[in-house]
Amino acid sequence: MRILSGLQPTGRLHLGNYFGMMQPALQLQHEGEAFYFIADYHSLTAIQNAKVLRENVQNLAVDFLACGLDPEKAVFFRQSDVPEVTELSWILNTVTPMPMLENCHSYKDKIANGITPNSGLFTYPVLMAADILIYDSDLVPVGKDQKQHLEVTRDIAVKMNLAYGEGLLKVPKERIREEAAVVIGTDGKKMSKSYGNTIELFEEEKPFKKKFKKIETDSTPVPDPKPIEGSNILPLYRLVATPEEVATMEQEHRAGGVGYGAFKERLGDKMWDFFAEARARRADILSKPGYVEDVLQAGAAKARAVAKKTVERVRHAVGLG
Ligand code: TYM
Repeated sequence: MRILSGLQPTGRLHLGNYFGMMQPALQLQHEGEAFYFIADYHSLTAIQNAKVLRENVQNLAVDFLACGLDPEKAVFFRQSDVPEVTELSWILNTVTPMPMLENCHSYKDKIANGITPNSGLFTYPVLMAADILIYDSDLVPVGKDQKQHLEVTRDIAVKMNLAYGEGLLKVPKERIREEAAVVIGTDGKKMSKSYGNTIELFEEEKPFKKKFKKIETDSTPVPDPKPIEGSNILPLYRLVATPEEVATMEQEHRAGGVGYGAFKERLGDKMWDFFAEARARRADILSKPGYVEDVLQAGAAKARAVAKKTVERVRHAVGLG
């Protein structure tokens, strides 16, 4: 089984990325042949500054390794080190109906937020389909916001197979982890860089813990019972606390007597401890100059060998060359 997923290097890694995609991806690296990459081509649709892009790629690579990506198990690479993916993307574009892309939520949301779209943003899902299809992927661990892009990917694969021959491209499935399908941010909305409600994994202790204090709650006074439904604290706590710890916090909500400030502090402390091992690994990685680049180069060589074969197969099938 081949597992594949990617992240955009648009900023520092946040809890939504970690629990929605990275944690399941890290578990899956032990269950099949994993291909994980940094989607730098995709980020060009939003970042037009070479220095910033390179720094973001470097940081994300360090962070992914720190979180437990094992380069002995998973193939880890930069998307742009396999330029064949852009050729496949072009070919896929030619079977992709415009209305299918016009319908994509992430595109529509960006327009609704006042962004003037470049055509890269519009065809973003086609490049994502190429990422997935070029490695004959079976399974793609993602957060819920990518579900529609996976549907587009399957549609494109089916269209290609209909036009050029059954079995030309493997039709993949997504894997969405129910309890972390949509990780909420400090305001209770989906955690996202574009909403400014993120909590970054590798911040210093003080600002990290402070972010949890910012979580929005209702104004139930300390002695009163507090609602469990609609809590912006409990869903995050459930991601890191033991079932007993969660039960205790829920019980305290029902009984009253504990204020939101105390719950937030407990959550912040728990999260901080949860990432202790990752922070230690990160410090170790940062002390080894050249290590990350070596990992990415070795990953790119392996990924590229697979990608070249797929592109050759597709070129032949469609009548190029
Ligand atoms: P990106 O960089 O926006 O996000 C990376 C991963 O994190 C997940 N995620 C979340 N999950 C749950 N709750 C949240 N609040 C949350 N925020 C982010 C995303 O669902 C995603 O899985 N298009 C992709 C990158 C990509 C890709 C691919 C992914 C490019 N090619 C091929 C899979 C396969 C993206 O922008 O992810």
